[in-house]
This record gives sequence, C-alpha cells and structure tokens, in this order.
Amino acid sequence: MSVQAYAVRDEQRPPDNMLLQVVQRGLRSQPKRLPSWLFYDEQGSALFEQICEQPEYYLTRAEIALLNQHAGEIAQVLGPDVRLVEYGSGDAIKTRLLLEHLVTPVAWVPIELSADPLRRSMERMAEQVPHLPIQPLTVDFTRPLRLPVPPRAPRRTVVYFPGSTIGNFEDREAAQLLRKMRGEMGDNGGILVGADLKKDRATIEAAYNDSAGITAAFTLNMLTRLNRELGCNFELNAFRHRAHYNAMAGRIETHILSQREQRVRVGRLQVQFHEDEAMLVEYSCKYSLEDFAALAAIAGLAVQHVWFDPERMFSLQYLTRAV
Ligand code: AVI
Repeated sequence: MSVQAYAVRDEQRPPDNMLLQVVQRGLRSQPKRLPSWLFYDEQGSALFEQICEQPEYYLTRAEIALLNQHAGEIAQVLGPDVRLVEYGSGDAIKTRLLLEHLVTPVAWVPIELSADPLRRSMERMAEQVPHLPIQPLTVDFTRPLRLPVPPRAPRRTVVYFPGSTIGNFEDREAAQLLRKMRGEMGDNGGILVGADLKKDRATIEAAYNDSAGITAAFTLNMLTRLNRELGCNFELNAFRHRAHYNAMAGRIETHILSQREQRVRVGRLQVQFHEDEAMLVEYSCKYSLEDFAALAAIAGLAVQHVWFDPERMFSLQYLTRAV
C-alpha cells in the first residue's frame, strides 16, 4: 500500500447545531421531509450492508453480476493509467472487481464521509490489489473537492459512482452533481455511474420492502439517530416505514409515517404529527436509457457506453464530455 494510504483526513460531518437546524427546517416544511444522508450513521451503514444481501434487493447482485461479466471490457474502454475517484466508496466490494482489471491504475481515491468504514475498505483493498496507491478523502462528495496530487500523471481521471446512488438525488441535484464530476474529471476524463433501470412495480417495491424488515429498520434508524444526537423523543413504535413506487415520476418514495396524533421534541421545537402524516426521507429514482441520457446531457455529458447485467435490471454507464 502507498505511504499516503493511511493519511485519512479529519471527518467533516456537520456540527450538531447545524444538524439541529437542518432537522428543524425539514420538520417545519409542509410536507415534512428529512435528508436521506441522515440514514448513514454507524448502525445505518451496517443495516445498508444487510439490505444489499436481502433476496429482494436485486440492485447489488445485478451490479456485481454486471461487473463479473464486463469488467474486462470496461477496463479496456477506460484504458491504462487511470486515476479512479470513487464517490461514496462504502465497503468497495464492487470496486475491487473493476480495479483488478484496470491496467496500471495510477491511484484509487475513495471518498467517504465516515473514517472507520473507509479505513476498513482500504485495508481490504491493500490486501486484494497490492501496489495500488490509495489516496483517501474523508469529505462529503457533494461539496467541491480538492483531489490529492497523484503519485504520477494519470492518462485519465474517471469518477466512479456505483450503486445507483445518483438515484437518491432529485433530477436537478443529480445534474448538478454530474456537472461537478465533469469539472473534476477534466477534458479527457469520464464518469462511470451505476443507474438502476425502470421495471415492473412489484420487483421495485419488493426491493424496498424486504420481508425480513431490514429496510424498515434502516428507515426508522434515522429517528433513533435523532433521539441520540439531538435529544429528540421519537417513539419508534409510533412510526412506520413506507416505500411506494411513483411510476409517473419513476421513483421509489420512502416515507416515515406517524401511526397516531403525537408531538415530538426537536431541540426547543415541539413538532406536531397527525395520524398517517408522512415525512419524506428518500427518493430512489429509476431510469430508462433515454431518461439517463437526457440527465447526462443537462450536465454537458454524453453516454459513450452502457453495460447491463444478464437480466437487464441495472446499468453501468460511461459518460464523457459532450462535444
Ligand atoms: C444507496 N442507495 C442507492 C440505496 C437505494 O437503493 O436507493 C439506498 C436504499 N434505501 C433503501 N434501500 C436502499
């Protein structure tokens, strides 16, 4: 592993007073909403890893199958001497499938908000892909990035954004994020982005309503986090998870529902919930190929290649600057 591998920078989570402001603002708005990044405390990240193993959550399996089948060809398209900048690297299991095929990669730059999972994934990667320079960044990837100076000049910087996390952003924000990546990758660079595809409602809804209840626990863990970090008094069994596919908008809409009339303390604010009142916590957008190409075009990007898993559930798309 390179010398820089353990130079994880300080974690940059929002300070608690800012967290309180974000939550109070979201709960004052009508309808109520909370940002989905609140899911990912330590427990939430562990639950997300469990979601990825549920039989109904096809996304991860499909993306792994896609990489198993196409990683060699993807590596050929990207070419040698790539610097791979990974947004939200998580456990980086899929990344290894790609890195193993890249020819003389210059560096892997995993970007993750939490230092501990980042350190664990780096340790694993260092064992599995020896001699790979690793230059981690512990920052919020939605903010402007200052990429570390690479150990040698890359032929191309590729921003890798797997898992269809792009779908957790509304179209306007997703286009802004793609435009930011476009700046970071430079003229000759590219973006390799996972995008979950539109399909029948039953398959999509099952993925977000697994029978073991892991996704429900993941959703409600957001309230546990607010109780712990902000001293709120959400009663967990007075709320429930609901994930519904809005076919017109092409997205899963996840809400937390109040099961009864109740009041909750959020800092100095007392928040009133009506029975069945829904609080929006996540969108998971699903795309047709045309939808995604249109989104890329708004960001000044063109789709160069699309790869699919054998069942055509999921896509990995390679975007470059539109001329
Ligand atoms: C991280 N992201 C792509 C997941 C998704 O499918 O939208 C988050 C998730 N939420 C519930 N289940 C999984």
